[in-house]
Amino acid sequence: QPLDLLEIKDFLVKLALEAGELITSKTGKTEFVDKANSVDLVTETDAAVEKLVAERVAATYPDFEFMGEESYVPGETKLGEKPTFVVDPIDGTTNFIHSFPFSCTSLGFTVNREPVVGVVYNPFLKLMYTGVKGHGSFLNDERLPLRKSVSKLTLQNALIGIEWGTQRSGPNYKCKVDTFNKLAAEDGAMVHGFRSLGSAAMNICAVAAGMLDAYWEGGCYAWDVAAGWIILSEAGGRMVGGNPGLWNPAVDERVYLAVKADEGSEQFINDFWGSMVGKLD
Ligand code: IPD
Repeated sequence: QPLDLLEIKDFLVKLALEAGELITSKTGKTEFVDKANSVDLVTETDAAVEKLVAERVAATYPDFEFMGEESYVPGETKLGEKPTFVVDPIDGTTNFIHSFPFSCTSLGFTVNREPVVGVVYNPFLKLMYTGVKGHGSFLNDERLPLRKSVSKLTLQNALIGIEWGTQRSGPNYKCKVDTFNKLAAEDGAMVHGFRSLGSAAMNICAVAAGMLDAYWEGGCYAWDVAAGWIILSEAGGRMVGGNPGLWNPAVDERVYLAVKADEGSEQFINDFWGSMVGKLD
């Protein structure tokens, strides 16, 4: 029996609203703990939201697989071919801890490792992004992208989403900092500006909406990306490698560049790669 992707999207929208109530009820009231280092944070609410989502998914779609940030076991959990829910219960955990209203629940659904349904919900600002393969993507009831560019996208006129990430030393950190510097400087590309929304999913959705021109990230996991990916591609945007050259578009690719739909996108991607100082792992 063929999968009813629209039905799955409706299920995920309801679930995101339920998760959102739990998230907003706990903001500013949750203790956090460090994971890899003092900027890689998690709270008990991340675990509580993932539990809620996993239970609802198991009750409604018992035959499908589930992958979530909090239950992920490194080296063991792998995204497979089967239909899989790929879930980040709170993307933007640092924002959540600081009561900065840019956290969301990111609910993706993949088949053969390809994202086909995505729901990203920010319950603080009530932003519900949805995307279904072949059916377009939306912010609440408005079709994405919300607006087309007035002028053709170039590196010089771009507003680019970036994140500092949790790795704050070593070659990856150096590549990011040197590249930010080159993109911003007057004797470099001198882009219009950078924004850090603090959530990979929110950044990708902002590109899909046309609020950001691009988003460059290294170090993400499938749950940060899966839902946003289909929302972006249904809006006509593209995910490509965050380093120049060939790219394997598997959904657990950790280094990527998300670019909005624009006639200048192809040139933008090449110019961005040309401005990189080093490479990301
Ligand atoms: C993180 C956020 C952050 C991105 C990191 C993610 P979390 O997710 O999306 O913006 O830079 O790569 O891991 O920890 O808030 O779920």
